[in-house]
Amino acid sequence: MRMSNVIQVVTIGLIVCSGGGMNVALAEGVSAIPISDLHRPTLSPDRVILTWTKDPKTSQAVTWRTSPAVTKGIAQIAESTPNKDFVKTSKEVIATTQPLKSKLFESHYHSAEFDGLKPATKYLFRVGDGTNWTEWSQFVTASDQPEPFSFVYFGDAQNDIKEHWSRVIRESFTDAPKARFFLHAGDLINNASADDEWGDWHRAGGWANMMIPSVATPGNHEYEVRTNPAPPKYSLTPFWRAQFALPTNGPAGLEETAYWMDYQGARIISLNSNENVTEQVPWLEGILADNPNKWTIVTFHHPIYSAAPKRDNPIIRKNWQPIFDRFHVDLVLQGHDHTYARTGMVMGQNVAEGTTTQSGKSGTVYVVSVSGPKMYDLARNDRMVRAASNTQLYQIITVDGGELRYRAHLATGELYDAFMLKKNDKGPNELIEQVPATPERLD
Ligand SMILES: [Fe+2]
Repeated sequence: MRMSNVIQVVTIGLIVCSGGGMNVALAEGVSAIPISDLHRPTLSPDRVILTWTKDPKTSQAVTWRTSPAVTKGIAQIAESTPNKDFVKTSKEVIATTQPLKSKLFESHYHSAEFDGLKPATKYLFRVGDGTNWTEWSQFVTASDQPEPFSFVYFGDAQNDIKEHWSRVIRESFTDAPKARFFLHAGDLINNASADDEWGDWHRAGGWANMMIPSVATPGNHEYEVRTNPAPPKYSLTPFWRAQFALPTNGPAGLEETAYWMDYQGARIISLNSNENVTEQVPWLEGILADNPNKWTIVTFHHPIYSAAPKRDNPIIRKNWQPIFDRFHVDLVLQGHDHTYARTGMVMGQNVAEGTTTQSGKSGTVYVVSVSGPKMYDLARNDRMVRAASNTQLYQIITVDGGELRYRAHLATGELYDAFMLKKNDKGPNELIEQVPATPERLD
């Protein structure tokens, strides 16, 4: 560096910022690390994440990223032992590798599938290229019995993920370390193909994503918009399928965005609320008509009942709610509105926003939530049993035989909302409210 440049850097370093009544001096000679340095892919695997493409009882998928120099990804797996003896019995799986070019980088995404696993069994895996490996990490397969389990649900993370969402997923992990999956209800990031935002998202979950698989449904922010030429054209970011190996059992063209899987007595369904809403109807009817599970939980991004002004989604409600009613879907988990709003058991009448909905003795519980820091105004109405504005949350949901227990926690960990559904084989669920006595956060 020439001397004139050094002087320039030092001069910048003397700038004093004033904010919140506090003067903060920037360190001398320090400049922001370029995002290209922070997120550049290397030979070392990163963004490692567990997902499912098939049956969680007998399979597990893992996906990771490297620089393009790694042309062959390898995953190893063994049943866990309390010492390193498992290494001797480990098996190798060759990953499928695909290139992905963003505005920042060219990367390789590797995806490996472990098949033929035993139910309710702990495994160790690692990924790499034969020379450079991750650490060994443990996961457990689903039981072939409807045993109790919990999972964590997040509304939109979306903005300032590193700064303000990291603590939410980490608090949820300390609260429910044995959770069997993380469920993300769309808008995981803000700009669909921003490599650095995905980097921040993966780092927030960190090694927890190597232990607890993720189930994700896409939001509108996972879609790229091309406005020129008109009309606007929306397309799912290529990051989605590169990063998340999800089931391909949805309608043609919507694979890995609309899909279902069964987990220990619960059918978990992801719908894609961004496109082809009507086309998903016959598929949804089919998987609900042939559902041997006691519980049915559906997730998608745009809510049936919006919690914020001027954000109604009548086409989604008109197409999907009658099916939820007909097949007695228990719980619907949504995002998009950057508020918190949870109903009692309600059934739709395809009513316009603001008019009466049947509620009370039967129907589905609908939740809108937000886990990241971006907030919208809340429009409180009588349909909401518990609501919040300007509040980051995570939810822990436990399926336990004939009971489904729901807890919503503030980002601080404090309990904010709770209820229990009791399954009655001869009639509708019983809803037992357990809302804590704390005031609603409506500011
Ligand atoms: Fe959204």
